[in-house]
Amino acid sequence: MSDPMDYDAELRLHNEVLRLACDISRHDRVLDIGCGAGQTTRDAARIAAAGSAVGVDISAGMIARAQVLTDAEGLRNVRFEQADVQVHHFPSEHFDVVISRFGTMFFADPTAAFSNIRRALRSEGRLVMMVWQDHEANEWSVSIQQGLAGRDSAPIVFPGGPDPFSLADPTTVERILSAAGFAETTFTDVHEPVYYGEDVAAALDWVRGFSYTQDMLQRLDAPSAESALERLREALAAHDRGPGVWFDSRAWIVTAIR
Ligand SMILES: C[S@@+](CC[C@H](N)C(=O)[O-])C[C@H]1O[C@@H](n2cnc3c(N)ncnc32)[C@H](O)[C@@H]1O
Repeated sequence: MSDPMDYDAELRLHNEVLRLACDISRHDRVLDIGCGAGQTTRDAARIAAAGSAVGVDISAGMIARAQVLTDAEGLRNVRFEQADVQVHHFPSEHFDVVISRFGTMFFADPTAAFSNIRRALRSEGRLVMMVWQDHEANEWSVSIQQGLAGRDSAPIVFPGGPDPFSLADPTTVERILSAAGFAETTFTDVHEPVYYGEDVAAALDWVRGFSYTQDMLQRLDAPSAESALERLREALAAHDRGPGVWFDSRAWIVTAIR
């Protein structure tokens, strides 16, 4: 039986880097922003054995999945809430550490969202988040885009849609965090590959599930969509390194202090 592909599998190497950077202690109260299916929330809770971890995500489906996985593990110091982090009323000055694995790039008003997050942190509390560097620095993004749209195509922007690269620019992030009341912002380059599946068929299935891929294919007529998928298949095959399909990627770990 092959392992199912999911976001935890894609980010298996990133996760270890983030876990170390979070530097959670046994008594910490941890808040995980945009927690998805909750792997990072559970990782935090295991370390904060005498503390707790709360995962928050806007998606009810993700929160339900996170709860199922947590119940299966029998973890008692984890809680999940479905909420929009931008406006949710968190307990004020409550958490020691706020963490996020690629869950903070999708805010309509990032300054308001990070101000809200900051209010939930105790004085001197820490923010540790992983965000993508820009499209050009991410082989996975360039390859998918060129596969779908053709080699000489410009990056496609979906106005108003979620932008995974919205926190790629350190100057912008520094400005947003500073306006939200954070200090001592740092950026650490994370250069790890992402995993897309054990073979080309698994990787194609995985990439076809991305909203970017679905939006792109919906814009094309049937013959053009078939050509796009064939180019995408070739791009994935070129990155099949024997033990699976891997693409280079670049992320930041951003830290800041309340
Ligand atoms: C790329 S996923 C990352 C999920 C998770 N952190 C992980 O690494 O598996 C981004 C997540 O952020 C959530 N999200 C986006 N905007 C949000 C908001 N305003 N409030 C809470 N969650 C949000 C999405 O629902 C999604 O689950």
